[in-house]
Amino acid sequence: MDRIDKILASQNYGSRKQVSQIIKSGVVEVNGEVCKSISQKVNPDTDVITVDGRKIEYRQHLYIMMNKPSGVVSASSDKRDKTVIDLLPENLRRKGLFPAGRLDKDTEGLLIITDDGEFAHQMLSPAKKVYKKYFARLDKPVTEEMKEKFEKGIVFSDGTRCKTAFFEETDDSMCAFVSICEGKFHQVKKMFLVCGANVVYLKRIAIGKLQLDQNLAPGEARELENCEKHLILFV
Ligand code: URA
Repeated sequence: MDRIDKILASQNYGSRKQVSQIIKSGVVEVNGEVCKSISQKVNPDTDVITVDGRKIEYRQHLYIMMNKPSGVVSASSDKRDKTVIDLLPENLRRKGLFPAGRLDKDTEGLLIITDDGEFAHQMLSPAKKVYKKYFARLDKPVTEEMKEKFEKGIVFSDGTRCKTAFFEETDDSMCAFVSICEGKFHQVKKMFLVCGANVVYLKRIAIGKLQLDQNLAPGEARELENCEKHLILFV
């Protein structure tokens, strides 16, 4: 049970102040009765709450898939640059949203944005072995040695050791798919650098068993289906 004003504010109906005005105007009903008090306690899972006759679909947390474009930063706010949160359409905005893991400013592709800290932790923790798959274009052809090094575990010049990465060749000798279960800073780019190659284009195409929706243009986002959420953590 929670206060009706708090619940409506959490579901993107406005600030607590705006929500209390909405309630006072008499358009909010709980189980068919006009709600008269902003502090009325309701159970959002079982009570039917309507605003202007429209039932609210209560969601404790939001899970959003974005096709991150190049040129925006994976942060909740930034003094200089546009963030992925700035790109969200009005209906997907809510307090507390953050990108679960970072893609570099110039990296594109699958990014999960949520307000569920526990979910993000599970997805990002290397111990959970949720692999993130990238498509990389290099400035040099892929070699057999790269594949071997990636699978053995790349070691950076400062001694940091990466876990085993999966490496797949593509039809194009300048490109490869790489899957990693960690999120070290600039990890994929640095792994290729150790092998003497620069990444000239990077796109994340999958997290766990969840693939980037091909229908999302760069910069577009949509809510995840419930089953898609499970595809991420299913290992
Ligand atoms: N590895 C990188 O180097 N950059 C990213 O954005 C993601 C993984």
